Amino acid sequence: MPNDPVRFDQLDPAIEARVNKLLPQMTLAEKVGQLVQIVPFQMPNPDEFAKLLQQAHASGQPPKLDPQPRPGIEQQIRAGQVGSLLNLTDLELVNRYQRIAVEESRLGIPLIVGADVIHGFRTVFPIPLAEACTWDPALLERASRVAAEEASAHGVDWIFAPMVDIARDPRWGRIAEGAGEDVFLGAALARARVRGFQAGDLQSGRRVAACPKHYVGYGAAEAGRDYNTVDLSERSLREVHLPPFKAAFDAGAGSVMSAFNEIGGVPATVNHLTLRTILRDEWQWPGLVLSDYEAVLELVNHGVAADLADAARLSMLAGLDMDMVSDAYAQHLTTLVDAGAVPEALVDAAVRGVLRLKLALGLFEHPYADAALADQLILREDSRALALQVAQESMILVKNAGGLLPLASSGQRIALIGPLADSRQDLLGTWVLSGRAEDVESVRDGLRAVLVGQEPTYVQGCAVKGDDGLDLPAAVAAAQAADVVVLVVGESADMSGEARSRTQLGLPGRQQELIDAVASTGTPIVVVLLSGRPLVVARLAEQAGALLVAWHGGIRAGRAVADILLGAVNPSGKLTASWPRTEGQIPLYYAHKNTGRPWEGAGTTQFGEPFKSRYIDAPNDPLFPFGYGLSYTTFGYRDLRVETPIIGNDGTLIVSAVVQNSGARAGAEVVQLYVRDLVGSVTRPVKELKGFQRIMLQPGEQRTVRFDVPASELGCISLDMRYTVEPGTFKVWVGPDSTGGLEGHFEVR
Ligand code: BGC
Repeated sequence: MPNDPVRFDQLDPAIEARVNKLLPQMTLAEKVGQLVQIVPFQMPNPDEFAKLLQQAHASGQPPKLDPQPRPGIEQQIRAGQVGSLLNLTDLELVNRYQRIAVEESRLGIPLIVGADVIHGFRTVFPIPLAEACTWDPALLERASRVAAEEASAHGVDWIFAPMVDIARDPRWGRIAEGAGEDVFLGAALARARVRGFQAGDLQSGRRVAACPKHYVGYGAAEAGRDYNTVDLSERSLREVHLPPFKAAFDAGAGSVMSAFNEIGGVPATVNHLTLRTILRDEWQWPGLVLSDYEAVLELVNHGVAADLADAARLSMLAGLDMDMVSDAYAQHLTTLVDAGAVPEALVDAAVRGVLRLKLALGLFEHPYADAALADQLILREDSRALALQVAQESMILVKNAGGLLPLASSGQRIALIGPLADSRQDLLGTWVLSGRAEDVESVRDGLRAVLVGQEPTYVQGCAVKGDDGLDLPAAVAAAQAADVVVLVVGESADMSGEARSRTQLGLPGRQQELIDAVASTGTPIVVVLLSGRPLVVARLAEQAGALLVAWHGGIRAGRAVADILLGAVNPSGKLTASWPRTEGQIPLYYAHKNTGRPWEGAGTTQFGEPFKSRYIDAPNDPLFPFGYGLSYTTFGYRDLRVETPIIGNDGTLIVSAVVQNSGARAGAEVVQLYVRDLVGSVTRPVKELKGFQRIMLQPGEQRTVRFDVPASELGCISLDMRYTVEPGTFKVWVGPDSTGGLEGHFEVR
């Protein structure tokens, strides 16, 4: 990165001076206007919208929303009643509305345009959960920068990402949007993404502010049902859910989106503990808090506000600065202040936040995006190449019996079977505002591009969902006539993401029947599994000779799959969320507690048998654990050295191990370091990731991998609810995943 990213989390005296000058000139109504974010078009009603989505799915094209402008929008902007627009990516319209704000409103305060650019703008990268499986923060920083470049060229100033919610429940469709189950990895990737979005030298000539979300605890929805109740202990909140937000702020994020959920009875939108005590008092963070979509209005449904006015009052009192589309502030805040129910000083503080962000973005000086640049900056060759690299590194080989992969690039008859083998739209995954199916290479396209002189036989076999199109005879015939089957199955793009919770995580529709039929032919099967979440696929994993987890991998996914299947690229991704054997194990995560009756070990004997924390009908451990992933080569680990067997609580743990490529191909390995605090004032996880390094090794090459872990990162929220690095003995492991590794000890004194 040539230039340092822009920071939006610090008070700049020059900006403060401008805010101090502007604020007293504003009427109360103009102040309130700055706190209002609207959708600039009329949304179709839910029935129409569902129909559009269906048509889009059938045609493989993005939904044709044909948005009509929101009635009266220009007048509202002119009157200073709007501070921000949501999800407008039409550059002409952005500039047109901006011109009204800047040139025709009384004070000329520019609008700020926010949008959901979750895994790329037009260059669609793999879904964030897949991106996380690269374990490559520098790469994701570059990917986020491409997203910011393209989005900002289209007039987007504010990106509603990264989504940093820790997710340990794959029933929750939004697990697709985050980094997975781990706090340490989540924090590292949050930092990288913020840095990328806020790159200081975008060629669009503009700046972008990241907006981490959803603050906080959203990923802990009961039963994995989106928007459901969250009831977290303050300890888990602080140890698991808050750190990625803190990391995003430390990297310079100057805004945050609050979550839909309640936390132990108090909705995040009005939560004084999280919005005031933690954000402002403890962290001294001066940034802007935006609600989620209609979350202020939803306080009525939550049952803590009597009506929209009450919701506006409670939100402002709690420290919620900007109202995303509820119209609660627009309709009620002026009256509430006039009636003395909300102090104007609170409104002022919120407005300051908005003005600061707009000033720091440079919007007063450069309010317009340059139309000439917009087309130049999208889908550039280097961006497409980066999307390919991210897709390649995000895919995880979880099984490769007998070295079935890589396939030979010629001389092998391949049957390509499955409902996702020739799909483009599905590879885009969830949340793609500007992505287009026509930009995507399907798996079939990818194989065509890399196979020398042969076209694989292709049979769709069945639909992704439902009963239509089942054609077992064609699939069986193709499998019988082939040396190897490449079976592309999984979830469609619309099965994960927001409001897409599932209770059964197997393959939808008739896909398992298709697989059973193909498996009955005895032709070896390579499964390419596309999904937005960990699935429950124990049967499939047995039937497959090789299994590649390829997610919804973005515009270059098909090519990346082909490169891996044919061996041009050696797979290197590692899972960042555990894959359960059965839904009944959920929530399932490696950093669990030991319990008083751990399932490993002898257990406590009662009634003549060991009573342990386990199931009588399934193992405790996952099908594929956190951190796991295979390569076409093998890696050996040896010579663990704990160079600092005793450290002070302000010291640094230094641990090294030798990792060797013991196979015949060059490959990348993600070396992982875990610790366990054996005795604490409170119970500690059986393992916690505290370091990782992605290294590339040539055949036979070995490297000493050294980790420096500051003792300050080994603490916990202790009995007195303070973050403390407690003295005591720790175990440490260095290994290829969360299950094994070389083991040592150290002591914190
Ligand atoms: C989602 C947010 C998103 C917002 C605006 C909400 O439904 O929860 O993640 O940023 O919509 O589109």
